[in-house]
Amino acid sequence: MSIKIAVLGGDGIGPEVTAEAVKVLQGVRSDLEFSTALCGGCAYEATGDPLPKETLDLCRASDAVLLGAVGGPKWDKLEAALRPEIGGLLRLRRELNLFANVRPAKVLRPLLQASPLKNNGGTIDLIVIRELTGGIYFGEPRERRDNGNTAIDTCVYTRAEIERIAEVGFQVARQRSKHLVSVDKNNVLETSRLWREVVTEFAARNPDVSVSHMLVDNCAMQLIRDPLQFDVILTENMFGDILSDEASMLTGSLGLLPSASLSEMKGSTVFGLYEPIHGSAPDIAGQSRANPIAAILSGAMLLLYSLGDKKGSARIEAAVESALEDGLRTADIFENGCKLVSTIEMGDAILAKL
Ligand code: IPM
Ligand code: MG
Repeated sequence: MSIKIAVLGGDGIGPEVTAEAVKVLQGVRSDLEFSTALCGGCAYEATGDPLPKETLDLCRASDAVLLGAVGGPKWDKLEAALRPEIGGLLRLRRELNLFANVRPAKVLRPLLQASPLKNNGGTIDLIVIRELTGGIYFGEPRERRDNGNTAIDTCVYTRAEIERIAEVGFQVARQRSKHLVSVDKNNVLETSRLWREVVTEFAARNPDVSVSHMLVDNCAMQLIRDPLQFDVILTENMFGDILSDEASMLTGSLGLLPSASLSEMKGSTVFGLYEPIHGSAPDIAGQSRANPIAAILSGAMLLLYSLGDKKGSARIEAAVESALEDGLRTADIFENGCKLVSTIEMGDAILAKL
């Protein structure tokens, strides 16, 4: 029986990088069936809706979703519901109940030079677990009052929402150092007080993982001061948005980092959406200059989390490292003495390494 993967290339460099990810996945497994659909600005252009019903239906009928990137300056002025980010990506997360965002920030060995931490005696390898369908991103009311002169966003969290993301955080921590840092703003926000309360109770029931709590402003500082102290960071939607960008920058190469947005973690497999953390980079779209590695590693995460295929996932990661060890570099990570390659050449080289 084949496994159905929905491919949403999206905008800008999205389709180019996902094409390489598909190519590499096909090199690892022959039982994957790929179907493409529109999402983001391209979908808005074609149908007037950044997330057309056919796309949502295809995702629902699939075992996993591979996404490129959405958005671009062209659509920035549209009303919120029509913008690729809100009407496309955020709606997709919500509709597919993708509540758990897993964002590894890891320095690949051949790129140690690019990391600002290269002299610190260690290599960054941490994971941010970000709650993805609650908090201020989705709270109601969200509106203008007073003739547009007052703007309101609302932050809401329920105990159930915090418990289910805590469970994912603990499961991930169990496979790693068994230590987790839960990040909140408990000295100010009521949602953070509930967050800390629920995580503390969860920790008491799960003593195999040790938990410490950190305020988000301190965490932002500690990530710069001593990032090696972190292994798993568990946090709410907006803090996770910001901290995961910060963590990714510590690795020195945004174009290399994948992410998973998971719906439910039952046993070893789960429905999920996999995407690079970088954006659609419209300035270099269509030139085969984008780095496909984040998309390819997103494919590796897909194998691991949605199909429980540890071996396939590890093969892709090893192939990526090996291509980098050979000195192949796309423009974003180019260094003197290396060989500059295009998006497609990088994909081909990684495929060959399998
Ligand atoms: C991300 C992005 C999105 C977010 C935007 C594009 C809506 O920044 O995936 O981190 O804020 O969640
Ligand atoms: Mg972000």
